[in-house]
Order: sequence, then C-alpha cells, then structure tokens
Amino acid sequence: MEKQPILETNRLILRPFNLSDAKRVQELAGDSRIAETTLHIPHPYEDGLAALWISTHKDNYENGKSINYAIVIKGTEELIGEISLVLKLIHRKAEVGYWIGVPYWGKGYCTEACKKIIEFGFERYNLNRIYALAMVTNIGSWRVMEKVGMKYEGTRRQDIIKNGVPVDLKSYSILREEYYNSLSKEE
Ligand SMILES: CC(C)(COP(=O)(O)OP(=O)(O)OC[C@H]1O[C@@H](n2cnc3c(N)ncnc32)[C@H](O)[C@@H]1OP(=O)(O)O)[C@@H](O)C(=O)NCCC(=O)NCCS
Repeated sequence: MEKQPILETNRLILRPFNLSDAKRVQELAGDSRIAETTLHIPHPYEDGLAALWISTHKDNYENGKSINYAIVIKGTEELIGEISLVLKLIHRKAEVGYWIGVPYWGKGYCTEACKKIIEFGFERYNLNRIYALAMVTNIGSWRVMEKVGMKYEGTRRQDIIKNGVPVDLKSYSILREEYYNSLSKEE
C-alpha cells in the first residue's frame, strides 16, 4: 500500500494527521461554531476524542474507506483545519467534508484545499463523482462547493436530526467528465 501522499497548493500543505495534532484539533474543532454546522462533530469536544479520531485514519486509509488530511499553512506549519474524502469505491464516488478553524475563515483556504482534494480524488482513485452535503443555512459551505465547480443537485428534506431538530441538506456534486472538461477550458 502506497503511503498517504502529501498534497500541496499555493498556500497550503495537506498532510496526514499525527497524534501530536490532537490538542490543536480539540482547540479548533471544539469551537461551538464548528459543531453547529457539521454533521459529526460534537460539542463540547471531549478530551481524548481527537486522538481517538486520529488513530482511526491509518486503517481507514489502508482499507480504502476514507482519507483524512490536516490542512496546514505552508511555511508556518500552522494546522488550520481538516478535509476528507469518504470513499465508496464500488461506485467510484466519494463525499468530501471539511472544517476550517474560525480565526481562518473567509480567506479562501477551504476552497483551495477542496480544489486540491477533488483533483486528487479524480486522479488517484479514478472517481466518477465527488459530492458534498451542507445544511441549507450553511452559506459558507455551499459557496465553497460552488467555487470549486460543484453543481447544486437538490435538497434532501429533513435528512438529519441536529440537536433534536430535522434539518434539510443541500447536495452538490462534480462529475469526472465535468472536472476534466473544466480543465481543458482553462488551458
Ligand atoms: C464552511 C467553511 C469550511 C468555509 O471555510 P472558509 O475557509 O472560510 O471558506 P472560503 O474562504 O474558501 O470560502 C467561503 C465563502 O463563503 C462566503 N461566506 C461565508 N459565510 C457567508 C455568509 N454568511 N453569507 C454569504 N457568504 C458567506 C465567503 O464570503 C466565501 O465566498 P467568497 O470567496 O465568494 O467571498 C468554514 O466556515 C467552516 O469550517 N465552517 C464550520 C464547519 C462546517 O460547516 N463545515 C462544512 C460542513 S458541510
């Protein structure tokens, strides 16, 4: 099995998490504004949870279930967020998920990381479809999806229960042919 590759963009490095990142993950993901709009991040973010989560990454990568990246600023090595692909290789598709620490919002970091992981997903895993889901109220997240070239494909009504309340999720996706067509237009 090839080691999880490190990815690079203009301003960012995407690298695997290390257990030594746990404190930083807890600090950033522990902000209630992250839990509010994500589907799986709890609040409060208990001690030990980040290490437990990081310790699942290697097996998940090796079993082709998911691939998780720490988003790190080039040069300073500051960890600012997370991006992942949850893989369903039998259907050649993956769901992208992400969060960025609150102090780093609105600087285009998520868009930059997301473009890279889409490229990686299509190239490395030969995916046919990459999709993402966001709460209808999570404008920042669906702006990211639009900026990376994903198309709105509908709203899944009351798809999840968040804090006891049914919530609608917007669904976005990009297909392999759309991705490669967009590259040829850029040339
Ligand atoms: C969603 C999230 C990842 C975006 O990260 P980010 O690095 O700030 O994203 P970017 O800077 O690349 O792009 C955000 C875009 O949304 C826009 N935006 C954010 N909030 C907005 C709002 N309330 N109304 C209108 N636009 C908004 C920004 O202006 C920007 O668009 P622009 O470049 O056209 O101006 C970040 O806010 C986050 O981590 N939120 C909490 C966790 C989460 O919701 N994760 C996604 C779950 S689906």
